[in-house]
Amino acid sequence: MNDLIARAIDAQRRAYAPYSKFRVGAAITVDGQPFEGANIENASYGLSICAERTAVFAAILAGPHRLEAVAICTDASPPSSPCGACRQVLLEFAADPARVTVTSVNPAGEARTWTLAELIPDGFNGRELPAAAATAPSDREQP
Ligand code: THU
Repeated sequence: MNDLIARAIDAQRRAYAPYSKFRVGAAITVDGQPFEGANIENASYGLSICAERTAVFAAILAGPHRLEAVAICTDASPPSSPCGACRQVLLEFAADPARVTVTSVNPAGEARTWTLAELIPDGFNGRELPAAAATAPSDREQP
């Protein structure tokens, strides 16, 4: 986890947040491999994307699918928790949300840790969809 936190801290430096000035770095472990993300904003504000989602999309593009751990770095105190949209996207790739840890840190050295199951209890995981069968999203067959 310490390596993942270090990656999130480093990724925060690469955030593009000229509008909110709220810089967010994220790092995730997917199938044992680390991936990093940062928030990337846009002059058309609604097109901005969060750090957690850029990390997930980088991982999926690279190949791995099973999310194991998440680290986040912001300047907030207490450390900031992921937004609802990001919780939903993280859930999509968590084989077992109760075993995915989400740790948020800040430069003051504060840290908060949750499981993904705590952050998005009873979330929509697509099992209700007709074609999804009884598999976790991350186990679903790829096209
Ligand atoms: N942001 C994240 O990157 N992750 C979150 O979980 C919450 C918010 C970003 C989006 C936007 O660029 C800035 O923080 C302010 O909302």
